[in-house]
Amino acid sequence: GLKYFGAATDSPGQRERAGLEAAYPEYDRIMWKSGEFGQTTPTNGQKWLFVEPERGVFNYTEGEIVTSKARKAGMYLRCHALVWHSQLAPWVESTTWTAEELRSVIVEHVTKVAKHWKGQCYAWDVVNEALNEDGTYRESVFYKVLGEEYIKLAFKTAAKVDPHAKLYYNDYNLESPGPKVEGAKRIVKMLQKAGIKVNGVGLQAHLVAESHPTLNQHIDAIKGFADLGVEVALTELDIRLQTPANATNLALQREAYKNAVGACVQVRGCIGITIWDFYDPFSWVPYVFPGQGAPLLWFEDFTTHPAYDGVIEAL
Ligand code: XIL
Repeated sequence: GLKYFGAATDSPGQRERAGLEAAYPEYDRIMWKSGEFGQTTPTNGQKWLFVEPERGVFNYTEGEIVTSKARKAGMYLRCHALVWHSQLAPWVESTTWTAEELRSVIVEHVTKVAKHWKGQCYAWDVVNEALNEDGTYRESVFYKVLGEEYIKLAFKTAAKVDPHAKLYYNDYNLESPGPKVEGAKRIVKMLQKAGIKVNGVGLQAHLVAESHPTLNQHIDAIKGFADLGVEVALTELDIRLQTPANATNLALQREAYKNAVGACVQVRGCIGITIWDFYDPFSWVPYVFPGQGAPLLWFEDFTTHPAYDGVIEAL
């Protein structure tokens, strides 16, 4: 059953859009005081780039901005992300590592960061986005030097340091059956076979209103993971549309949100849903997908999308 419905949020300094300072009080009220959300994830502050910008130099300032508010608000916290090829500190990528050196870099990073937030994270995204669309491994610096061993090492280390956190593999395009879903199952099975703790698979769920999965596709994908004995969460749900928003694409978006949330509610083993921020102006989408936007549940003027009602219907 569902443990939480939450929203990720960023530290003010990292929010993608400046010039909206006047909106902050209302934003903060909805985020922290309205009771709309029982969980949060820092969208940026715990990433390698911020927490270990130079080798052995750890800085938790950015991550603490959101995690300390989550503590005070008594919300579930998902922690994100220990080992990822993107938003990596430049020193990790620009060095030519031996296998032994890179192993110790990973162990030190995971140990220090997981220790800092020990006991506070309901879950950690231990490895993020290790797969290509065809289910093969992405040629990240980690994979190039260590092969799939880096995944085992990251999970093994996280398990040792923070034994109560649920350890997740997290990726996008895992919301309907296909080769990438099979790749993620392979990762779970590899860890299980090696006797390494793995508790969950995070489906990022960065979806598209005009071409969204059906309810049954969502259900099949989620069940496929749950059948392996791991829990599932929708970890970064947003559903972008071709801007401008109009009655037609907002109706498609409503249906898409209802399908995604409904599937998670219906499948035992799907334990939580996180939207990737809740306020359109702070979404990452327009920066990465030009011509697309309005992917969240609150418009710039703080009125809610039709999809908000779709979510309520599904919950
Ligand atoms: C995004 C953040 O929302 C942006 O602010 C940042 O500039 C880039 O990263 N998959 C992930 C998230 O796992 O960490 C990404 O978050 C979105 C895609």
